[in-house]
Amino acid sequence: MRELKELFDNNRWWAERVKRENPGFFDDLAKQQAPPYLWIGCADSRMPANQILGLEPGQVFVHRNVANVVSHTDFNVLSVLQYAVEVLQVRHVIVCGHYGCGGVAAALKNEPLGLIDNWLRHIKDVYQHSPIAGRRTGGREDVDRLCELNVAAQVRNVCHTTIVQDAWRRGQALSIHGWIYALEDGLLRDLDLCISNPDQLAEIYRMEPPRVRGG
Ligand code: CO
Repeated sequence: MRELKELFDNNRWWAERVKRENPGFFDDLAKQQAPPYLWIGCADSRMPANQILGLEPGQVFVHRNVANVVSHTDFNVLSVLQYAVEVLQVRHVIVCGHYGCGGVAAALKNEPLGLIDNWLRHIKDVYQHSPIAGRRTGGREDVDRLCELNVAAQVRNVCHTTIVQDAWRRGQALSIHGWIYALEDGLLRDLDLCISNPDQLAEIYRMEPPRVRGG
């Protein structure tokens, strides 16, 4: 007997229901995807991008990892970002954290967890370079404040990539947003971090147009 049969059953019911409600749905979906949004969110099981946004399959390109980190050396997130910006031509990149994030909470502690500590170090770095550095009290409010600061840091990290900077230099319209989600009420909050051009970045991160080589 096939394992996890209930999931295959769920899938069949879902596909049948979708086909019943919209007979051309899968034919259209199979032809192409043109989502206008890239979502970079936490891997937390309570953070399903499509459901939170009320979007159907095909409407949002998604990357998720522990605590929605955008690391400059992570080929996974960079590849997703490049494909989304250059091939899918998304107009919006949304970095979405959530209050009470377990990854952020773990980063605020000193308890060793193994390999993941290397990943969480990115969030310790956010803390250490923030106004709350050295002020942790061990409470939930520390976690929630660092969740917000982490979103802000990861929005900047997206903007600092060659991928986003090249897109802006080509004149491509692209906005990077920082949002946070509360599990308690299911609502998104806009952290007012929308960045749409390099003038909004610190000077050191603004790249000049490429020079013509040779000669
Ligand atoms: Co989380």
